[in-house]
Amino acid sequence: MLDALLSGARAGQSGVLVLRGEAGVGKTALLEYVVGRAADAQVVRAVGVESELELAFSSLHQVCRPLLGHLDVLPAPQRDALSVVFGLSSGEAPDRFMVGLATLTLLAEAAETEALVCVVDDGQWLDRASAQILGFAARRLLAERVAFVCAARSGVGDATLSGLPELVVPGLPEKEAWTLLLNNVHTPLDAAVGAQIIAECHGNPLALLELPRTLTAADFAGGFGVPDSRDVPERIEASYSRRLSQFPAECRLLVLAAAAEPLGNLAVLHQAAGSLGVDVSSLRVAEDAGLLTLGGRVEFAHPLIRSAAYGAATLEDRRRVHDALALATDAEAEPDRRA
Ligand SMILES: Nc1ncnc2c1ncn2[C@@H]1O[C@H](COP(=O)(O)OP(=O)(O)O)[C@@H](O)[C@H]1O
Ligand SMILES: [Mg+2]
Repeated sequence: MLDALLSGARAGQSGVLVLRGEAGVGKTALLEYVVGRAADAQVVRAVGVESELELAFSSLHQVCRPLLGHLDVLPAPQRDALSVVFGLSSGEAPDRFMVGLATLTLLAEAAETEALVCVVDDGQWLDRASAQILGFAARRLLAERVAFVCAARSGVGDATLSGLPELVVPGLPEKEAWTLLLNNVHTPLDAAVGAQIIAECHGNPLALLELPRTLTAADFAGGFGVPDSRDVPERIEASYSRRLSQFPAECRLLVLAAAAEPLGNLAVLHQAAGSLGVDVSSLRVAEDAGLLTLGGRVEFAHPLIRSAAYGAATLEDRRRVHDALALATDAEAEPDRRA
């Protein structure tokens, strides 16, 4: 379906697909596949972040920012509407319909010369305004050479971009689930234990990768017997919490700070670490464990690590890191975020 969407866009037929499924089932992996296949096209991306839910138009801005060079060719009322919502000019809050129309025109203009692939991840956390506008545009794409693919977590994201064509991402079939499990378990695995892990993970690849990490040798030898009534993503998150709880306190505090900082901005994190009195190098432990990476940005290997870190923290620690992050956030440039 994704290949068809891409070739359609190349041939001048826009297409839309919303990927739905539980956390860890492989939605982001499928979006990466799309991006990998779109080398000949322009790609714009946005990622919903839970703590940015209240910042109107923040996700739409991620999608449109690389395309704003085309702003000049938009009809004046549309251009003005987008300029105001992105803070490029001042004016009264524009009509939502005009913003939607402007977004549609902008996408169409950008796709005039080459196919445009628009990839939105974690759609369940799009701010409402962005979800509304992107949905408006996605419903009206016709012959613009645009492929629009969005992933949304089932449950919390069920209402996100509803009414658009969708693909429910199922778990891996049993054979593939076994392959993935056995490729990543490096101790002898009791056949009955393996069968139980397979049964309980329901083919969720992240569960197959993560849950065996916090099982003990005794569990592997046949003690993995207590049925767990929680759903799969909850158990993945609990496994992450268990791993995090074994890190040194300074590392945990910084992982919490990173979890509370929506943009993965390293400079902000450095400054926040300074006011917390902790060295950023303490994060190395979490990095070595594969839970996050510090490249140009701080990136969690999966959003469930972020929620595990935040959920496991004490109220006092959360206050401390939010305080430090606010101090590190520019009051002039980003007053909303600082607040
Ligand atoms: N088909 C697959 N085979 C093997 N591993 C997979 C597959 N799909 C996803 N994964 C792995 O499972 C983990 C979770 O996938 P991800 O795409 O992040 O899930 P989601 O975005 O649905 O929460 C990642 O480590 C990913 O590499
Ligand atoms: Mg994902």
